[in-house]
Amino acid sequence: MKKKYIIAGNWKMNPQTTEEASRIATTVKKVAIKSKKIDTVVCPPFVYAHLVKTADNFSLGAQNVSLEQSGSFTGEVSADMLKSVGVKYVIVGHAERRKMGETDEIVSQKIGAVVGAGLQVILCVGEKERDQNGDYLAVLKAQIIASLGKLARKDVKQLIVAYEPLWTIGAPVAMTPADVRETGLFIKKVLADTYGQEYALSVRILYGGSVTFKNAKDIVLLGQVDGLLVGRESINTEGFNLILKEIDGI
Ligand code: PGA
Repeated sequence: MKKKYIIAGNWKMNPQTTEEASRIATTVKKVAIKSKKIDTVVCPPFVYAHLVKTADNFSLGAQNVSLEQSGSFTGEVSADMLKSVGVKYVIVGHAERRKMGETDEIVSQKIGAVVGAGLQVILCVGEKERDQNGDYLAVLKAQIIASLGKLARKDVKQLIVAYEPLWTIGAPVAMTPADVRETGLFIKKVLADTYGQEYALSVRILYGGSVTFKNAKDIVLLGQVDGLLVGRESINTEGFNLILKEIDGI
């Protein structure tokens, strides 16, 4: 059976009230539970996790996690805590967190924590800019390898990679489907060189960066990715639900 598409909504630091968070979660859920080809993943700020009532095809995700397991780490949230409130997917290494100082080494430790708790990792990778010579591919490769760090082959089944070129995040337009396809193949090649072809093929690749209902289907179909990581449009319920309908209609 073909794996389901993953459409993950990263709410970032939005919205500002529980009422609005509850409204977004319930409005998205109505469409998500009918979308049989998709696992919709809602990633709210931690404080709103309890408002997301998960169901078949409708999962809870987290935007971040501590690399530590427990103890004196003020303000941190562990992977086991996330698991205990029903989180299934954890975004690790988002560009906005890397900008706050998260290194590949920290990312790799966080991946270890998530995998250790038995959750799925959504590892974000992406180049800052594209140059004419294709040097960005080497940058991307180095970032993937360093971020995966010591992830063992047996744990690859818990890995999802979200390709998010930084210049498309919060930008006016997304990447072209042709470029998404090309880079997706490159990422698979890097994974195959590290873990072997069979393991690499089992990793789902998502695209993120200025996804809307207008470009979602082309990016998935022509870009040949297994899903999308949606930022701004994830809190616009009308737009997000249209993305779900577009992808479920593939
Ligand atoms: P965007 O954000 O969809 O608003 O461009 C994507 C992301 O940061 O994951």
